[in-house]
Amino acid sequence: MYKIAIVDKMHEDGISLLKNNPKFKCEVIEDLTKENLISKLPNFDGMTLRRGKIDAEILEKCKNLKVISRHGVGFDNVDIKFLKKNNIKLLVTATTTSVSPSEHIMFMILNILKGKDFFDQSVRKGKFETVMHMQHNTFELSNKKILIIGFGRIGKKLIKRCLGFDMQVYAYDPYVEKKVIESFGGIKIEDFLQGIKEADVISLSVPLTEETRNMITIDKMKMMKKNAIIVNTSRGGVVNEKDLNEALNKKIIFGAGLDVFEKEPPDSNNPLLTNERVTLSPHAATFTQECLSEMSKETAQNLINFFEGKLSEDSVVKI
Ligand SMILES: NC(=O)c1ccc[n+]([C@@H]2O[C@H](COP(=O)([O-])OP(=O)(O)OC[C@H]3O[C@@H](n4cnc5c(N)ncnc54)[C@H](O)[C@@H]3O)[C@@H](O)[C@H]2O)c1
Repeated sequence: MYKIAIVDKMHEDGISLLKNNPKFKCEVIEDLTKENLISKLPNFDGMTLRRGKIDAEILEKCKNLKVISRHGVGFDNVDIKFLKKNNIKLLVTATTTSVSPSEHIMFMILNILKGKDFFDQSVRKGKFETVMHMQHNTFELSNKKILIIGFGRIGKKLIKRCLGFDMQVYAYDPYVEKKVIESFGGIKIEDFLQGIKEADVISLSVPLTEETRNMITIDKMKMMKKNAIIVNTSRGGVVNEKDLNEALNKKIIFGAGLDVFEKEPPDSNNPLLTNERVTLSPHAATFTQECLSEMSKETAQNLINFFEGKLSEDSVVKI
């Protein structure tokens, strides 16, 4: 029997897949403090991982650990160097974690460009009649240029939704061939700076790496159109938060949507929390009923497949 730690509660649908399988004995670990993880995690053969940071000091103690199955696709909360050195497999939910995030990006784009918060508040505050005389810009998506930065699983779902709104889609991803982007109806951007200069909407769907950290800073925002918007649902730190706040306050760009933050949860004095030009959500791009259930099942199934020797290559992170 394999001992499995379910690190951070996930949807019951996935937990029952493991609990109902006689090959596994599971324990849910909800206290994600380092002290608790260090004391609880040794002796498990495998773990699922949603939130919670698994660093080398914790992994050092997990002498039986063979596999980590991430509930999600990002893996910046795991020490991958340690995993590689110790031949511990890292799995991700490659098939279930892109529809909801791509819809969430559309929700943010629409929220900002259609002035949802402004109109909503106008009605609630009795300004139904006067709102037409007030200065508030809203925009059509049709014919606007979107630059999708990172043309992976989410980027490929997002492009279809953007084309449905008659947007012109440009994609910047040095690791994806031009013909692949074109086969989805997009145009490959080779020159990053040219791409951000021309875009009306910039959406980021890249992993957080040394290369992507601070990919968008104030110098880049100054090159963007005055009415450009930035949507970051990838990871905090890809867009520099301090610079973003400054660019919004100085009206260098029109607006932004953030699902992710440099520190999560963000500090209560983070100025972006009171900036009216930014639409916020709490790292919730996958928080639909469908996605949470499916991701949980895929997380569990990936572990089962690993121990049964039936793993699909798509689920394995090449580290
Ligand atoms: N907010 C959320 O809840 C949520 C949900 C899912 C994923 N995410 C984040 O979104 C990211 C993307 O998810 P995905 O499933 O599309 O991942 P993916 O691995 O399928 O695609 C990422 C793409 O980024 C590209 N890329 C890497 N470095 C780049 C760079 N320097 N410039 C441009 N492109 C680069 C890769 O070539 C790849 O095509 C994840 O890494 C994760 O951090 C967030």
